[in-house]
Amino acid sequence: MNWWENEFLKVKNNRLYLEEQPAEEIARKYGTPLYVYSRKQVLRNLRALQEAFSPAPAGLEVRIAYAMKANPHGSILKTLLKAGCWIDAVSPGEVEAALKAGFPENKIMFTGTSISREDFEKVLKYPELTVNIDAVEQIDLLAAACKKLRRRKPVRVSVRWNPGLGRGFCSKTVTAGSHSPDGTPIKFGVEDSQVLPAFRKLKRLGFVPVGLHQHLGSGWTEEDFPVAVKAVDRMVKKAKELKQAGFWLEFLDFGGGFGPKYREDQRLFPLAEYAACILDKVEDSGLGLKAIVVEPGKYLLASAGVLLVKVEYLKKSYGNLFACVNAGTYNTVPRPAIYEEAYHEIVNAARVDSGKKARLTVAGHLCETGDVFGSERSMPAPRGGDILAVLMAGAYCRSMASNFNLRPIPGELIL
Ligand SMILES: Cc1ncc(COP(=O)(O)O)c(C=O)c1O
Repeated sequence: MNWWENEFLKVKNNRLYLEEQPAEEIARKYGTPLYVYSRKQVLRNLRALQEAFSPAPAGLEVRIAYAMKANPHGSILKTLLKAGCWIDAVSPGEVEAALKAGFPENKIMFTGTSISREDFEKVLKYPELTVNIDAVEQIDLLAAACKKLRRRKPVRVSVRWNPGLGRGFCSKTVTAGSHSPDGTPIKFGVEDSQVLPAFRKLKRLGFVPVGLHQHLGSGWTEEDFPVAVKAVDRMVKKAKELKQAGFWLEFLDFGGGFGPKYREDQRLFPLAEYAACILDKVEDSGLGLKAIVVEPGKYLLASAGVLLVKVEYLKKSYGNLFACVNAGTYNTVPRPAIYEEAYHEIVNAARVDSGKKARLTVAGHLCETGDVFGSERSMPAPRGGDILAVLMAGAYCRSMASNFNLRPIPGELIL
């Protein structure tokens, strides 16, 4: 069995099946390139996450707030709403899309960075929504937006703090600490020393502080566990300081970041241990929280989607072998083009395993050297017309795709 096989992706007679349907048949019927998502797999992933947090004591709500930036497809949103999820939205556009899918305002938290007063005005139209501020400097903008709207109902606010340490699968996805490993200054969150002043200012201006939030980064593996645990400790300690200063919090939001497995040699983040650690520390803290929140994006969606592409021809040049496909990374699965460290397994739907392997690069049709889905892969040699499946394409693929080179963004099929 291949490491990536699961209930969604199966191999029968050396052919790839997606939820029991041959991938090639789907490609023939709907054309390529095509995103194919499995609603059942999204729900399986959600169930696994709920299971990890199932030891939560009675009286402590566990809110799973889907980070919809991963994949804002309306039908996926509706499925997650029905399954009990909340929403992490990062722009007024995402707030609107969540409302359109049916999420009630009080299940949406808006977390914005580099926010304008106009952005705040747009989201403050919804009186039950929670606003998560990312900078002390946002508080005056928030107050100005309330004044402009003549808003009477007090705004529920949370503070995204930066606990001083972060982790992610690459520099661009580390979102806490002072700098990324590559030296980029990190723009997110309120620094430690400013958290209490921020709460005091919010209260003074008539806002209702209800939560503390952190998000360390994205794509954690087993190696990231000790840092994730340390950040849980810091969060609980900070919440205790706030309680001592008179701020009772309704919730602590630990963000997302826990990654699914993208490659065979990657050791999976120990989700059950992480959940147990959060639950233990929160229970021991005496904080009297009503809820804890996690904000998964990748975890729920990545493994529930693939991109199907067609091999147009094989090309040889200077000793390189290319499978030239009818799609471009930027328009479909942009992660490998944006993040050098991103890896997506590529499977030939017509011959999944074969003794005779070739070393080849799966190249897209864009005018850019970085437009490769996979470089120097050892895989069964494809033929012109073969369908390839790019795996783990359910999260941060369609939502990050562009029309670069004026190529269209593919359609999406939900099985
Ligand atoms: C505030 C916030 N929460 C949650 C997430 C989701 O992260 P992931 O998809 O790694 O779970 C992100 C991702 O960027 C984020 O910025």
